[in-house]
Amino acid sequence: MSQRVQIFDTTLRDGEQVPGSQLTTDEKVIVARQLEKLGVDVIEAGFPVSSPGDFRSVVEISKAVREPIICALSRAVTGDIDAAADALQYAKRGRIHTGIGSSDIHIQHKFNTTREKIIERAIAATKYAKSKVEDVEFYCEDAGRADLAFLAQLVEAVIGAGATVVNIPDTTGYCLPEEYGGKIKYIFENVSNIHKAIISIHCHNDLGLATANSLAGISQGARQVEVTLNGIGERAGNTSLEEVVMALKVHPEMGLETAINTKEIYPTSQLVSKMMRMPIQANKAIVGRNAFAHSSGIHQDGFLKHNLNYEIMNPQDVGVDKSDIVLTARSGRHALKHRLELLGFSYEKAAVDELYSRFLEVADIKKEVNDADLVALSKAFASV
Ligand code: KIV
Ligand code: ZN
Repeated sequence: MSQRVQIFDTTLRDGEQVPGSQLTTDEKVIVARQLEKLGVDVIEAGFPVSSPGDFRSVVEISKAVREPIICALSRAVTGDIDAAADALQYAKRGRIHTGIGSSDIHIQHKFNTTREKIIERAIAATKYAKSKVEDVEFYCEDAGRADLAFLAQLVEAVIGAGATVVNIPDTTGYCLPEEYGGKIKYIFENVSNIHKAIISIHCHNDLGLATANSLAGISQGARQVEVTLNGIGERAGNTSLEEVVMALKVHPEMGLETAINTKEIYPTSQLVSKMMRMPIQANKAIVGRNAFAHSSGIHQDGFLKHNLNYEIMNPQDVGVDKSDIVLTARSGRHALKHRLELLGFSYEKAAVDELYSRFLEVADIKKEVNDADLVALSKAFASV
């Protein structure tokens, strides 16, 4: 039987940190409702101490959304934890996400302290958060560059202090997949109380490896993954929800599943893109405009013979209506004939050959030939 991987969505927190993408409370509630429909397990709704608006958003999302756990971020300081707990007061199931830097770079250059003091602060913050809510997640910031033995010590300490989930973020997107997977493996092998908590993955995409790193971590036993829609987030962004979810679905041999209603992926992606004013790159995996578009003659011919030749998932599975055959100067006769038939024009081979040469002349000028062009081409051909 497949094991469940929890989907922790941080579109409204890490994703919303993107400059120019800030949302009002009402907009955040709309996105949160759609995330609930999508089936995420946890919604990270904001960082309540950061601004009154973010505080209000966590309150309103807690009231409006009842199914997923609502999570609020805090640093490992009591004021932040108080604000997070207050903002979560209406949540059916609330979680405080607190944490501190774990790499020597952060310990020395951000906190100007020692590893020992970091462990003390981590334990104190976890216990304090635990006095407010039952569900406490601890993040070991910059774990991607942290010393492994120290990281394991920190993880063991916060689990001992009551953390229910421990997040191992590759905050700077530094790791390679094998390296990140190795970190998670090391933690499972060297933390004595590991069975008392869920290990969570949180990867950034600075080297374009966020999804690969997340899958490497999951395959080593992590059972929560932190993601955003369309991969939005700080700098080069976070791991994309749609990529991890569909990778697990397309590869059932991994024995892992999520509770995501995949048909809601595309509508949610569109909503987030519009509300956050973040256009989606055309070739973005799963949700980009070209993700199910076939434009070269060889691919179109193969796709028209059988969709499996060039597609590893059905567009309908992610909420996209249908695949697209784009007619360009790289298209072949098969695609042209197919589109003409859809438009109600049926031709013998010799006629298709002739029409194809005329089509190429138009395509070289127009780049993309649309249905109106084809109708005009057909009518001109018929009148000769
Ligand atoms: O990238 C990171 O380390 C974070 C933490 C605050 C969880 O976003
Ligand atoms: Zn992050």
